[in-house]
Amino acid sequence: MKKIRMGVIGLGKRGTSVMKDVILGFDDVDVVALCDSYEDRVDAANAIVKEQRRHDAEIRTTDYREVLKDTTLDAVYVATAWETHIVIAIAAMRAGIPVAMEVGGACDLRECNELVAAYEETGTPIMLMENCCFGADELMATAMVRDGVFGEIVHCHGAYGHDLREEITTGGVKRHYRLRHYSRRNCENYPTHELGPIARLLNINRGNRMVSLTSVASKAAGIKAYLDKHNYEMDESLRGVEFAQGDIVTTIIKCAGGQTITLTLDTTLPRFYGREFTVRGTEGFYEADTGVVFLDGMEEGFDTLEMYKKYLGNNEQYKKDYMPDMWLNITEEQRIKGHGGIDYFEFKAFFECLKENKPMPIDVYDAAAWMCITCLSEASCAMGGQPMAIPDFTNGAWVGRKPEDVMPLGKKS
Ligand SMILES: NC(=O)c1ccc[n+]([C@@H]2O[C@H](COP(=O)([O-])OP(=O)(O)OC[C@H]3O[C@@H](n4cnc5c(N)ncnc54)[C@H](O)[C@@H]3O)[C@@H](O)[C@H]2O)c1
Repeated sequence: MKKIRMGVIGLGKRGTSVMKDVILGFDDVDVVALCDSYEDRVDAANAIVKEQRRHDAEIRTTDYREVLKDTTLDAVYVATAWETHIVIAIAAMRAGIPVAMEVGGACDLRECNELVAAYEETGTPIMLMENCCFGADELMATAMVRDGVFGEIVHCHGAYGHDLREEITTGGVKRHYRLRHYSRRNCENYPTHELGPIARLLNINRGNRMVSLTSVASKAAGIKAYLDKHNYEMDESLRGVEFAQGDIVTTIIKCAGGQTITLTLDTTLPRFYGREFTVRGTEGFYEADTGVVFLDGMEEGFDTLEMYKKYLGNNEQYKKDYMPDMWLNITEEQRIKGHGGIDYFEFKAFFECLKENKPMPIDVYDAAAWMCITCLSEASCAMGGQPMAIPDFTNGAWVGRKPEDVMPLGKKS
């Protein structure tokens, strides 16, 4: 393969910025097809392509099926709204075009099953673009787990803690998809940023699997309070709208290996950003947000604040041994390509696998297992936290699949 001919479907905030800062940053990749439901977004993206590559995109359309007719495409990146990722990814696979599919939750189990079936029937490569799996902290902790530093792993926790009140309430004006989900649905709507790295660390679909979940949602008060406080200046039409999405959704997942995973969705109350990535084992714990590594035998104390002050950021001393080389040697140019470098690493992995015809590091089984958490949590929340069975999308193959990491880990592991 010479230059990778890429199409981008979904040119909102994420699609456009990834195209501009990440995809077009690779000299051996060209963007030749652009699609969004809104024509002005296609035009704006084309202006970026023209500025950076001195040509128009060959296909510019509001209908993604026009993109998929071009069998000379080497890949498409799908960054549309949550409810269309899987539909478009399936159509692309059936057209024989490899897919880089953005993250989001599934609306129904049926689409997860259809996603897996489309892959198994066509063999067309697909990667779920879960950039947090390429995070430095997450990979360092994974290397430490592989090396046995935390002993036997018993429990992991993660959150999507991100104050999205402005993004949600301006969704009508700025044409953003989140508003319609928050007004009508109540679920763990964005599980993969925290679940992805945890699932890889726990070898989910590779010797382990998620068996069941229970989800409970708090009341929905945050968005209404925010709108009231701002007197609906962002969108008068939201006056009187009842929001379905609970402010805090807590999900507990049980794994075949006996571990538990807790996930917290926390997007409509005041807070600073955090993913709360936490690993608990018989020999210690790691907490990424505070950078605390606490191992058995370290002094214990009852003054929590003092303890945090003492151990805050002590993960620094583990970086040399456990951080992947790629992270230790990251250049400034790579770092500025989206989310501090994780977007660069994930697209680098996607393009390398595509060119070398290697299996994608985050495959269709990961995609289905992680994305189905959303629709299962929706059913569980609706029934007051009733446990829901999590399907085995590998159809039993998880028993024999070998653990794999998304990139080479740090030296010691
Ligand atoms: N990995 C990350 O860090 C990260 C960050 C932000 C967003 N995302 C994901 O990226 C996706 C897009 O997020 P966003 O903030 O850019 O949203 P957005 O609403 O700004 O953009 C989505 C775009 O998709 C277009 N679209 C929707 N359905 C379409 C269809 N059928 N055909 C063509 N175009 C269609 C919309 O018109 C819109 O322009 C989301 O699924 C989100 O989960 C990932």
